Amino acid sequence: MPPPCRFDAAYFRRYYEGAGRTHSPREIARLASGVYGLGAWLGVELASVLDVGAGTGIWRGWFRRHRPGVRYRSIDVSPYACARYGHERRDISRWRARERFDLVICHSVLQYLDAAAAERALANIGAMCRGLLYLEAVTRADVAILDLEKTDTIMHLRSGAWYRARLAKDFVQVGAGLWAARRSGIRLYELEGPGPVPSSSLRRRVSSFSRR
Ligand SMILES: C[S@@+](CC[C@H](N)C(=O)[O-])C[C@H]1O[C@@H](n2cnc3c(N)ncnc32)[C@H](O)[C@@H]1O
Repeated sequence: MPPPCRFDAAYFRRYYEGAGRTHSPREIARLASGVYGLGAWLGVELASVLDVGAGTGIWRGWFRRHRPGVRYRSIDVSPYACARYGHERRDISRWRARERFDLVICHSVLQYLDAAAAERALANIGAMCRGLLYLEAVTRADVAILDLEKTDTIMHLRSGAWYRARLAKDFVQVGAGLWAARRSGIRLYELEGPGPVPSSSLRRRVSSFSRR
């Protein structure tokens, strides 16, 4: 028999209902509309979304309401969450679809996976993302600013550098939790992103300008 999943009814009651909840639909609405708008600004039409570790489905609620034409797939490892909120039951550390998505959302999930599983999850996410990734994962440095009343603290703390090293294979950081898939062709100006633009992409952009 598989071991009981700790993401059960009591977990979702504790962290997603009432005053002590982690984040509310209203907060996620601000974030989701920002992510959608930035996608449009960067030239990515978000026609398909994969929500990894979708929990109570707050992001899906926003998309259904405001962007009903978007094809939305949500997965979760928790039998309770899948039955109650209607996701496909998948473990992101062991599953990848053949399909690629314009936006992958992975909000507050990877810190619950051990290092080997988180590394496999990032590889699976990288394989399935053709546009943008929205990623929030608590790191060791974040502990100082966590709201302990609202946060499940049973997690695997790693450094930001640990995540960056694994994300770098498939993604370039945009900022504010957004990462552009390398295969997306998104090009950032130097001050749009967190660091210097690699000289190869700078050369491409300059030469396309000089042809105009
Ligand atoms: C803190 S909740 C976040 C839920 C949602 N993303 C949100 O931000 O509201 C973490 C979720 O990740 C799911 N999860 C944990 N490990 C997972 C895995 N290996 N694969 C897929 N989902 C996982 C849990 O079942 C839970 O629903």
